[in-house]
Amino acid sequence: MTDTLVDAARAVQQRAYAPYSCFRVGCALETDDGRVFVACNVENASYGLTICAERAAVCAAVAAGARRFRRAVVVSDADPPAAPCGACRQVLSEFGGDLRIESVGSARTVSWTVAELLPAAFGKEQLA
Ligand code: THU
Repeated sequence: MTDTLVDAARAVQQRAYAPYSCFRVGCALETDDGRVFVACNVENASYGLTICAERAAVCAAVAAGARRFRRAVVVSDADPPAAPCGACRQVLSEFGGDLRIESVGSARTVSWTVAELLPAAFGKEQLA
């Protein structure tokens, strides 16, 4: 069965700029009104400045005015499929713990909610 989000994430994975790790990641983020924002990882010679696909997708969506998301698909060539890093979990958590993340690897797919990936998250309610 075709999945538009998986196809979009696979397509943008091809654009990953990952000359150091050679680990190419694509992310497709769907908004609650059906828009899809995509991004890939962008590495840097100053390694710590690397931007993950997930965070880049969130930034693209927010810049376009979208803040409510219903599903994210992350693709890589890993097995087991890549789980979002800690920084990306925190950034995704800003927009809701119910968001479902599906990670598609070379052999299988795994899925979690953001809250499962980041229990006891620090959030806006703690800044009140
Ligand atoms: N990376 C992502 O883009 N998303 C993930 O979920 C895991 C890691 C990137 C960061 C870096 O460019 C490369 O994968 C290896 O860590």
